[in-house]
Amino acid sequence: KDLFSDRSNSAGVNLHISAQRQPFGDELAKWQDHQWQAGPIINGQRLQSADPRLIHCPAKLEQTVGQVFDASAAIAHQAIAAAHTGFTQWHKVPVEQRAQTLEKLADLLEQNSGELIALCVREAGKTLQDSIDEVREAVDFCRYYALQGRQLCAKPQLMPGPTGESNLLSVEGRGVFACISPWNFPLAIFLGQVAAALVTGNTVIAKPAEQTSLIAGRTVELMLDAGVPDYAIQLLPGAGAVVGQLLSDDERVAGVCFTGSTATAKRINLSLAQRDGAIVPLIAETGGQNAMIVDSTALPEQIVKDAVHSAFASAGQRCSALRVLYVQDDIADRVIELLQGAMAELRVGYPGHYASDLGPVIDANAQHKLLAHIEHISEQGKLIYQTPLPKKIDGHFVPPSLIEINSIADLKEENFGPILHLVRYPAKDLAQVIDAINNTGFGLTLGIHSRNEGLAQSIASRVRVGNVYINRNQIGAMVGVQPFGGQGLSGTGPKAGGPHYLQRFVTERTVTNNL
Ligand code: SER
Repeated sequence: KDLFSDRSNSAGVNLHISAQRQPFGDELAKWQDHQWQAGPIINGQRLQSADPRLIHCPAKLEQTVGQVFDASAAIAHQAIAAAHTGFTQWHKVPVEQRAQTLEKLADLLEQNSGELIALCVREAGKTLQDSIDEVREAVDFCRYYALQGRQLCAKPQLMPGPTGESNLLSVEGRGVFACISPWNFPLAIFLGQVAAALVTGNTVIAKPAEQTSLIAGRTVELMLDAGVPDYAIQLLPGAGAVVGQLLSDDERVAGVCFTGSTATAKRINLSLAQRDGAIVPLIAETGGQNAMIVDSTALPEQIVKDAVHSAFASAGQRCSALRVLYVQDDIADRVIELLQGAMAELRVGYPGHYASDLGPVIDANAQHKLLAHIEHISEQGKLIYQTPLPKKIDGHFVPPSLIEINSIADLKEENFGPILHLVRYPAKDLAQVIDAINNTGFGLTLGIHSRNEGLAQSIASRVRVGNVYINRNQIGAMVGVQPFGGQGLSGTGPKAGGPHYLQRFVTERTVTNNL
């Protein structure tokens, strides 16, 4: 039986219909003053330390969301020892049981979605829509990887061949996996990594982003409630320089799954290469310098709708987000005029309000970097439009900005926020546009808008990226439908939410039996 024939992702919500919106408003009200607490969880023990770190809502700086006890180096060593010992038990647990545990976890996520959505709004500053989608994606990852795990790990495969022996190919977990996750998908990517590693028989040390440790803490509590044994999951909130470094350096760690910046992925790769012990895999999903190429046959209204959504949804804090819109010069003025109109309609505000299109960026550091970039790049190019911010707003907000520049090559790094750069190009220069995009070295998403199918296909085949989107927006890949991940500076693959992802988490064994 095809395990995937009945599979579907979780259902969406239309917040513009008041009856659908109401329950979420009630849940947010219920959790609006709640203070969460998180710290290391080692073999099921919740540890505390003397000096907790206070977490403030990035959209309301006077409001605290809870406190976090960061792990020290000594606690990180305990976690590694616990995960290392735990592997001797976990890899004997049949995959069916591991998969069922993930399915139970998916159910618990749905039952606790109100609290998790409130956490995403208050700790990560995600809009209500993004927070709902975040929980859905986490649920989908659990269920999808449960099915994939069953398919990959259930039975050894009998290999055909002429030797007259039995040749059996099987897979098993590698050992301890360090899962190091980002703040922009504090639940979905956090859990996607952990679920993939667990279902394939690895024990996990989860190191969440410092900015979103409360969400991670609550999620690990739900994992334990779902029946993940306490020896199989260790949680290590704390600084990358302390905890993350220690995980990469320890030879008991048999693999690392990382989502975050390209620079950090390279540091992890170097540590793994230089340490003693085995050669182990790094699965890295990193940044992008994502472009959309628009030719003059495209419909301006559609371009604008998709470009605005791709650039400004989630306040531009997606690795898939559109950064550079290449518009053929004949239609550039019209597209710019429409873009300004659409940007004027964007509502920047408190992320828990259903009508807010954008919330804040994650912290003061991100805000300052983005504002400095806007100032600097506007001197080289031309600031065309900024969506005004509401007057009374006390958070890390950055105005959605549209800036005309000469080339993607003017951008020296990924700008992880609501900034859209625009480049005009004459049709004769299309090959140079494609070269310039490829020369960034990144290769994550590409948008194409054209009614010339041959041209769209030709562009798609020449730009080296992991995800191409034609005549639509370029964010929000669906689990099991649009496997997601890049190449080059954007990551190692395999793609998250795709049929090959789990293979990197296992080691293979062939038994040739001539009995
Ligand atoms: N998976 C997300 C997207 O497709 C980015 O991490 O937008």
